[in-house]
Amino acid sequence: MFTIDESIVGPELASWLKCWNIKEFTDVQQLAVNHGVHNGTSAIVCAPTSSGKTLVGELALASALKGDADALYLVSHKALAEQKYADFSRRFTSDQFGSHISVAISTGDREDGDIRSRLLISTYEKALGLLLSGRLRVSQTVIIADELQLLGDKYRGASVETLCTLLRQRKPKQFVGLTATAENPDEVADWMGCEVVHCAKRDVVLQQHICYAGQRYTVEFGQDEGSTTVDPTPSSNLHSFVRSLISRGQGPVLVFTETRNEARRYADEYSKQCNRDQKGIAISNQLELFSEPTESSQSLKSNAERRVAFHSADLTPDERNVIEQGFDKSDFDVCFATSTLSAGVNFPFRTVVFSKLFFTYRDDHKMSLGDYRNMSGRAGRLGLHPDGNAYLLPKNNAELAHANKLVAPANEKIISQLVSLSMRRTILGLVAAGTVSTRKEVETFFKNSFYWHQTQEHNPKLLEAIIKKAKDAATWLIDRHYLAQEDGAIQITSLGRATAQSGLLPETAGQFVDLLGNKGSQINDAFDDHQIGIIHWIASCPEFSSDTPTRFLPYPAGEVKAESKLFIQQNNLLTPLDPNDSKVIASVHALGLFMAGEGERKIQFVSRISSGYIHRLASDFAWILDGLSCISGAKELAIPQSTTNHLRMLARRIRWGVPVDGLDVLKIATRSRVPGFGRQRLMALTANGVGTIMDILKTPLDKLAKLIHGKERAESLIDALGQNLNDAAVPYAAAHVQAAGEVGLAEQVEACNQAIGTDYEDAIVELLRQELQLVVDVIDDGDRQNVPDFSLALNEKSLIIECKTVTKKPPLIDKRAAWEVVQKSADFDKSMHRVTLGKPDFDETSKKKAAAATDITLVRHEVFMEGLVRVLTGRLDAPSFIDWLAEPGVTELDRLPGNPTFVASSASQK
Ligand SMILES: Nc1ncnc2c1ncn2[C@@H]1O[C@H](COP(=O)(O)OP(=O)(O)OP(=O)(O)O)[C@@H](O)[C@H]1O
Ligand SMILES: [Mg+2]
Repeated sequence: MFTIDESIVGPELASWLKCWNIKEFTDVQQLAVNHGVHNGTSAIVCAPTSSGKTLVGELALASALKGDADALYLVSHKALAEQKYADFSRRFTSDQFGSHISVAISTGDREDGDIRSRLLISTYEKALGLLLSGRLRVSQTVIIADELQLLGDKYRGASVETLCTLLRQRKPKQFVGLTATAENPDEVADWMGCEVVHCAKRDVVLQQHICYAGQRYTVEFGQDEGSTTVDPTPSSNLHSFVRSLISRGQGPVLVFTETRNEARRYADEYSKQCNRDQKGIAISNQLELFSEPTESSQSLKSNAERRVAFHSADLTPDERNVIEQGFDKSDFDVCFATSTLSAGVNFPFRTVVFSKLFFTYRDDHKMSLGDYRNMSGRAGRLGLHPDGNAYLLPKNNAELAHANKLVAPANEKIISQLVSLSMRRTILGLVAAGTVSTRKEVETFFKNSFYWHQTQEHNPKLLEAIIKKAKDAATWLIDRHYLAQEDGAIQITSLGRATAQSGLLPETAGQFVDLLGNKGSQINDAFDDHQIGIIHWIASCPEFSSDTPTRFLPYPAGEVKAESKLFIQQNNLLTPLDPNDSKVIASVHALGLFMAGEGERKIQFVSRISSGYIHRLASDFAWILDGLSCISGAKELAIPQSTTNHLRMLARRIRWGVPVDGLDVLKIATRSRVPGFGRQRLMALTANGVGTIMDILKTPLDKLAKLIHGKERAESLIDALGQNLNDAAVPYAAAHVQAAGEVGLAEQVEACNQAIGTDYEDAIVELLRQELQLVVDVIDDGDRQNVPDFSLALNEKSLIIECKTVTKKPPLIDKRAAWEVVQKSADFDKSMHRVTLGKPDFDETSKKKAAAATDITLVRHEVFMEGLVRVLTGRLDAPSFIDWLAEPGVTELDRLPGNPTFVASSASQK
């Protein structure tokens, strides 16, 4: 460790470090500071696990935020994003920076915070989407790429590389890549034009032990040679081995297992010999309070009371949270976990045990070096433990030989995976982003890639092959009208843009367009009867089954039941059912039950898919459905808005796992973190006739507490539902004010954002009148009774608009209020279209009804403002705006033409 030298870091940084309670630097931190990473130097920082790389990134973030740069922190997965979001929101507070720093998070599951925030935490895939839709201003941004070794990941490396290639071309203000030890950080640095900060030392020494046949070979991480001692501790009995570690003060212990079942079974067996304890009981109570009953919960709870945990993909997000908080406080003695206990997420264990080095059930038959380093890297935390230990327990000579390889200091090389990605999707994205507009520039992109950089040295012949593949892909995209070619230039079509924005494979988009072409109106007219058919169509689509799948269906735990097949066959299917595809059958059945609100234990019992996997599956399917609804909005397809509305509604139902009427309560309760109130407790309320916001608010506390098992939970729910939703972060508000500032209308836009009641109508009318082409006629002047607020006309088209705002109880506009415009305008010309403009939003029941309506449009304030500000700032013409508002249904932002207000201008993008 090094004393922090104020003359090097400067007084300001020194004072922040003091606030953050950092007294000394680790080796890699000192080295990074010597390279000037805190002063804008771009670098690839390569150091062992748990050596303190995050702080290096934070130093760069801090200097960006202190100046006028934006900051982007890229992470490998959602759990890590959540952890960093919480950490950074705490760390980068206004006290240190003089003004408020807006922090936002964007992952497949969650978008929170201002769309134009100063600091954004995002997963790689999501950031690629944002970049392609023009939402990142690269040249003004300091970018930290955590876990950058992901570049070499078989499944995800290609997206990471596409993102980095684009960033490299656009030259960020500073780029700092953080990576665990790899053999070739120089190669990555050379490619990205960065310096290398390479440090082999781990500040907390990691001792690696191989126990076999009464002997123990011990070698320190990073060293070539170790020493052998006689160790009679029997390693064949895992439980007694772990017990002996704990009795020697080497706990907490993490035991790595092959399968989810194994993790749970080991934990159940181990805890039989442990006593219950106060801290353990406290965690068990937390599980009771913070999560809903699942098939794992009983076992989790009784193990937790004895300070034993298991951790695998079977756990629901709530269960994981509680268990992980227990790790954080070292409240468990031992945890049995699969490798999903993810990389880079920090939990303090003193010792990690590898009970198996060869696998029976996994696709990879041996433990990979990457997994080994990741898991062993969890052992020994700075400031908490004097050292860390990894124990490898080989069972035979072959496993012993593998163990010896794992503990050797040699590192894995990061190897480009770019060619494993769908070339079509990559090229489509590049054209959509405006990065390439000729075939020549497609070539330039590949010449900028890590693949090119790496292959040029080793195998130049391959380069011709990739250029040919790229050309074929471009031709395919042109033939199918995703791209248009004219005089050598290639341009994106609106179908191409929608597909690129959806993030889906062009093949998926193509099949979906065909589906809509053949059966679109049939689906639209009886959407509810086709929901299972659509889910089945998705499970069979190229996202899961092409050569370059983007995601995977889980294997059911056991044979699927005839019941599952029957469940699917009863529905209107859109593609034939393969009776032998057990993964598709189990997943569709599980999701069908999930969105109907069925309990997770029952779903697991009938479909053989565990709670943890159902949640993951639901989030994947919801993501795909959002993509499909985005595609359905492409102008040339001329699909009615109602189809887009229906698809979005289905996405929400699958994401949240409840019927339409339950969505609002669940969304609000989740956002407000009502403890242990999820879909199952909501369904219990619904079954008792207390399913809506108003029902709940009217129910006496005692009764509510009984229904959802807990007074604290009931109070928290009532509080959450009674809140004013306008207070919640409004992602676009700041962007609208800023864009309006371009034409001197910032104040008027701000007034619309703030106002409620009749002030709101006045503010909106005032703003609409700024656009000279629009004719605004106030009907409700305060004297006339029961008439709509105003009409809006342009050329032949005119709309009748009613404004609705609500604050509390219920905090959303209900069906009655949303439809008032129809009744109030009964005497008006039928050709005038009816619109309700609402703030903050309509309830889900209204949205569902509107999707099937032909005579009304519901538009949410923020969405309306996006359209209007586009018109006022010249990003969109007024007739298109009026056409968009006049389309029946719930107005969708994806279907709005023109340039978004939140997109950086093209000059700053390039
Ligand atoms: N200078 C420091 N003083 C005290 N504690 C520190 C310091 N730097 C980092 N730590 C602590 O060390 C732990 C490991 O740090 P960090 O998560 O940054 O490691 P890492 O190098 O990113 O490892 P991984 O490769 O596993 O992600 C964290 O708990 C962090 O709070
Ligand atoms: Mg890290």
